[in-house]
Amino acid sequence: MEGAGFEPAKPKRLIYSQLGLTAPQPLQSERGILGVMIEVVNKNPLDKEKILSKLSNEFRSKVVLEVFDTISSTNDYLLRKEKNKNKDIKICIAEEQTKGRGRRGKSWISPKFKNIYFSLNSFLKKEDLSGLSIAVALSVSKVLTKINVMSLIKWPNDLLVGNKKICGILIETAKVDELTKVVIGIGINVNMEYSELIDQEWTSIKLEKKQSVDRNSIITEMINQLCITLNKFEQEEFDYFLKRFTSLDLLRDKEFTLKDKPNEIFIGKGIDNKGLLIAQNMKDQRIVKFSSGEVSLKLKK
Ligand code: BTN
Repeated sequence: MEGAGFEPAKPKRLIYSQLGLTAPQPLQSERGILGVMIEVVNKNPLDKEKILSKLSNEFRSKVVLEVFDTISSTNDYLLRKEKNKNKDIKICIAEEQTKGRGRRGKSWISPKFKNIYFSLNSFLKKEDLSGLSIAVALSVSKVLTKINVMSLIKWPNDLLVGNKKICGILIETAKVDELTKVVIGIGINVNMEYSELIDQEWTSIKLEKKQSVDRNSIITEMINQLCITLNKFEQEEFDYFLKRFTSLDLLRDKEFTLKDKPNEIFIGKGIDNKGLLIAQNMKDQRIVKFSSGEVSLKLKK
């Protein structure tokens, strides 16, 4: 039985969670059957050559890829590192993050070998980046669709499958002379099956497909797709993305509240041509718009 020596840790964790307790998180090593510390085997390591070899010819020469075993945060790394405004697209991926960051100051749980922790650095000419998060979410959704995982986008850029989060996106920018340095951070739950540390409903590709998937091929697809999207984002009006977003808009005609104003109920009415969320206040029927930095939304059950 393949990998049998490593399995006893799983039932142990299940029992912890059934009792409502938080199990210790042995991410890199587990106590095996004989009580000896053994390394968890990574059967699907991130593989730089494999990823690069399958990139489309058009982008292979433009992409500089770095793969880390452990890093604090792939976004932090590219934010700190990249000041060089050349035409390359710098990408950083890691097997684990020790200080993975989410939106609104939250942390992003990043267990080793399980998921995709991916950041891309590019310098854009376009001044108005308000719709970029939607464009990036559309790219990831397209990649997931290719492997038959059908996701919807919870504005501005969470990807959910059956109301459970499967991917989060964190976009950070800095002005560098006439250009904008953009770091696009993407976390996708891939082969993660359990975590007592995540405080919202979540799923993973493995849980949806009932089988493990190769992270390298997903990363290759994602790089190809993001390169296409960034080109389109520079060339096209936001309308191009708006049309594609409409059918994937999780909030459309759904009731939601704002996390810091739980008593006011809104209904999603799509987005405008800048990517702002349009919503109707249920109490006074007024139409309001939200920008992504401003609010955190909770879908009503
Ligand atoms: C969110 O939904 O709150 C956004 C999560 C973004 C997580 C990714 S993982 C790779 C990159 N590095 C980080 O520290 N965060 C992003």
